[in-house]
Amino acid sequence: MLAVRASPLEMEFGMDKNWRFRYDRAIVVCIYLHTNKIWAGMNKLSYLLNIVLIGVVGYGGYKFINGNAEATDDGRTAIMLTFEEREFLLADMRTFLETVQAIVAAAGEGDMAAVAEIATANGIAATGNEPAALMAKIPLEMKQLGFGTHDRFDVLAALATESNDPTKVIVELGDLMTNCTGCHAGYRFDVEE
Ligand code: HEC
Repeated sequence: MLAVRASPLEMEFGMDKNWRFRYDRAIVVCIYLHTNKIWAGMNKLSYLLNIVLIGVVGYGGYKFINGNAEATDDGRTAIMLTFEEREFLLADMRTFLETVQAIVAAAGEGDMAAVAEIATANGIAATGNEPAALMAKIPLEMKQLGFGTHDRFDVLAALATESNDPTKVIVELGDLMTNCTGCHAGYRFDVEE
């Protein structure tokens, strides 16, 4: 039998041929595992992560557009809120109505300065205190309608300042208020369980 020259590993660890064979085979198995099984596993993991990521991003986008909304049997979309969130928005709504009442009264008296002042007070400057968690529950379209209504009060204030004609103010207010009626026709606020 020919003596096989010991490999450095054999010399260092005193491995016999049999061991070395098993060792070589183990490396092959390791490489196989790495290139196939483990990477396949990694791919599966990254697929999974991607799906989770797409899910999270998709859910965020879905929520951003649709908010925390539910269909109801009266045809309106219910926005599901906590009791406090609902109170917050209803208080805003009562301010809207008070604003409209005060503008009609001031326009009736031909007091354009008062119209401009009242309208500005409920313009876009009146926004910005809405809690982020509450805003996340409001569908995008509804938010645009809500903030758009505040914008319209600024437009009304500018009109009252420019023009001395109360009729123009009432016409503008009538148009602005299609935001109120439009939103009320489509949505309601419900308290989530
Ligand atoms: C973006 C949507 C939206 C706009 C715009 C909007 N509202 Fe509302 N408003 C609502 C919803 C939703 C409710 C709750 C209705 C329900 O739950 O039945 C509500 C309720 C109200 C209430 C009842 C408040 C209470 O205490 O119960 C008043 C008054 C009101 N709105 C006035 C107005 C006026 C006036 C305007 C326009 C200047 C206006 N709203 C614009 C969505 C809107």
